[in-house]
Amino acid sequence: MTHGTEPATVAAVDAAALQDEALHALASASTSAELAELRTQYLGRRSELKQALRAVRDRETGMALNAVRERLEQAFAEREAELQREELDRSLSADGFDVTLPGDELAVGTLHPTTQIRRIVEDAFLGLGYEIRDDREVETVEYNFDKLAFPSTHSSRSRRDTFFLDDDTVLRTETSPSQIHHLESRPPPVYMVSIGRVYRRDAITPTRFPIFHQFEGLAVDRGITLADLKGTLLHVMRALFGYDRRVRFRTHFFPFTEPSIEPDVSCGVCDGAGCRTCKFSGWIELGGAGMVDPRVFENVGVDPEKWSGFAFGCGLERSAQLRYGIDEIRPLWSPDLRVLRQF
Ligand code: PHE
Repeated sequence: MTHGTEPATVAAVDAAALQDEALHALASASTSAELAELRTQYLGRRSELKQALRAVRDRETGMALNAVRERLEQAFAEREAELQREELDRSLSADGFDVTLPGDELAVGTLHPTTQIRRIVEDAFLGLGYEIRDDREVETVEYNFDKLAFPSTHSSRSRRDTFFLDDDTVLRTETSPSQIHHLESRPPPVYMVSIGRVYRRDAITPTRFPIFHQFEGLAVDRGITLADLKGTLLHVMRALFGYDRRVRFRTHFFPFTEPSIEPDVSCGVCDGAGCRTCKFSGWIELGGAGMVDPRVFENVGVDPEKWSGFAFGCGLERSAQLRYGIDEIRPLWSPDLRVLRQF
């Protein structure tokens, strides 16, 4: 027997009979895998039809065979779509999958209360036209203390109060070094707020934590006064604690402000009448503030005769505690979702 030669009779294949046979077969295919096999059998490279097409010598036979090929290709495509639809329907109902049922609700997290406070503060100051700054947490003694006019004997320069990395490097104890960085980077007028972490060597207690966040403000312009400071703090306190707040100043001391004050905000729980939250004083301490000391201006090359300014610094955790009525700082630093989910 010869091997691989085409029988001479192939060209004379009965096109009509072949078409009927193929259509009949594909109609009875019940899976797309079965259909694919039939497709190979009737339309594949080695199918009777393809071999006949290759052997064609006259125009009429060629047209007739091509018509069958087109008809079959279309029929296979239609049946394929039909079977796929049926298979999809079957698998959906077999799995008991009801596409009309409502889906599982995705658990959406909330922002950490400290982050919420940070955003409120940022919004309040952006609304006043302030720039937001982010400075380094590893700071030099020069920027953390010297340029802020801390005397050499100040207690926070000691290794008992501050984390020293080496003799000249500390974890910043406050956001105030941002005042220096900012004034060195551009000439006044400046309006900026710096927000970030600060570090102090405190033992962990209900009210103290060795890491916390501060927001620090600095405004330097011509003719700025304590009244501007008061109005600015009032604006932020209203954003944080509600519109009916009042702000008052108590005298204090900071090396880099003169005069220095501690601002209080009227208690939001009792509106100043006195309650547990405000320790029955009607007022809540906010942090520190004051007019920029002329020595600080001299340290950064700003003429204190021409310019004046105010600065303030407040704790974010403290603000969060007051806003959300959290009576300790520790939960704000614990990853306990039972606590955090409440805010
Ligand atoms: N840096 C001071 C502190 O941490 C707060 C402060 C900021 C005071 C700006 C005056 C001006 O206590």
